[in-house]
Amino acid sequence: MTATRIDGKAFAATVREKVAVHVANLKAEHGITPGLAVVLVGEDPASQVYVRSKGKQTQEVGMKSVEHKLDAATSEADLLALIDKLNRDETIHGILVQLPLPKHLNEDLVINAIDPAKDVDGFHISNVGLLGTGQKSMVPCTPLGCLMMLRDHHGSLSGMDAVVIGRSNIVGKPMAQLLLGDSCTVTIAHSRTKDLPDVVRRADIVVAAVGRAEMVPGSWIKPGATVIDVGINRVDAGLKDDGSPKTRLVGDVDFASACEIAGAITPVPGGVGPMTIACLLANTLTACCRVNG
Ligand code: GUN
Repeated sequence: MTATRIDGKAFAATVREKVAVHVANLKAEHGITPGLAVVLVGEDPASQVYVRSKGKQTQEVGMKSVEHKLDAATSEADLLALIDKLNRDETIHGILVQLPLPKHLNEDLVINAIDPAKDVDGFHISNVGLLGTGQKSMVPCTPLGCLMMLRDHHGSLSGMDAVVIGRSNIVGKPMAQLLLGDSCTVTIAHSRTKDLPDVVRRADIVVAAVGRAEMVPGSWIKPGATVIDVGINRVDAGLKDDGSPKTRLVGDVDFASACEIAGAITPVPGGVGPMTIACLLANTLTACCRVNG
């Protein structure tokens, strides 16, 4: 059996189109333009790529995009002052501080300084608590994108056994909350989990979010299961014609062997990644609509 590919790239394009239509209506009917501010501290190359992509896509759906690029040595006080300014700026509806931050900055303190209503990442402790208690909140973008793909593929997820591999605050924990909210029986597995292959083999839905290249082989997957691969890992792929090193992107799941066993699977690239930014735009629109009634 060859698994159905869940096309995150195409799905993300439809989400962006819907967001763009809403943004155009907001402008035409109410004169309001949703605004997203992205704050990048330092020069982490991967973060720079993500931030550029977020800014470009924000503009493409007709929103205002503001980027604040701060020096790696920026003090906590200066960063908090910028967040305070953005919290009070009525033209900004979403604020995202790109993680990870340089070591001298306290991530929890910085994230919790963002107005929860503008916390389009859903990382503020208030939004985490609201999600955990099933109340209306800002939902973290990557897990939200995964949930949308799962709902689109299955319709109802009620009663399904789901395993989330990885317990990060950004993906693993909120993903588990969302699956629980959709009435799945949820297991969170992590580096200390005993008999991980057996745990994964029981699942109808596997969400892999560990950040280890191709660590989940097809032999761990229950036949017919749906696999959502959140990993984006760069690995060596030999040499280019000019002798320089070549790399390629792979997920946390061994795609080739998993395809033989799974019922459906998200590829890397082109699966979860594009959905994350599409959901960021959707969250910014939601934040804008909530303040403007
Ligand atoms: N770094 C990696 N993923 C994310 C994300 O979803 N949001 C932010 N702010 N930083 C990240």
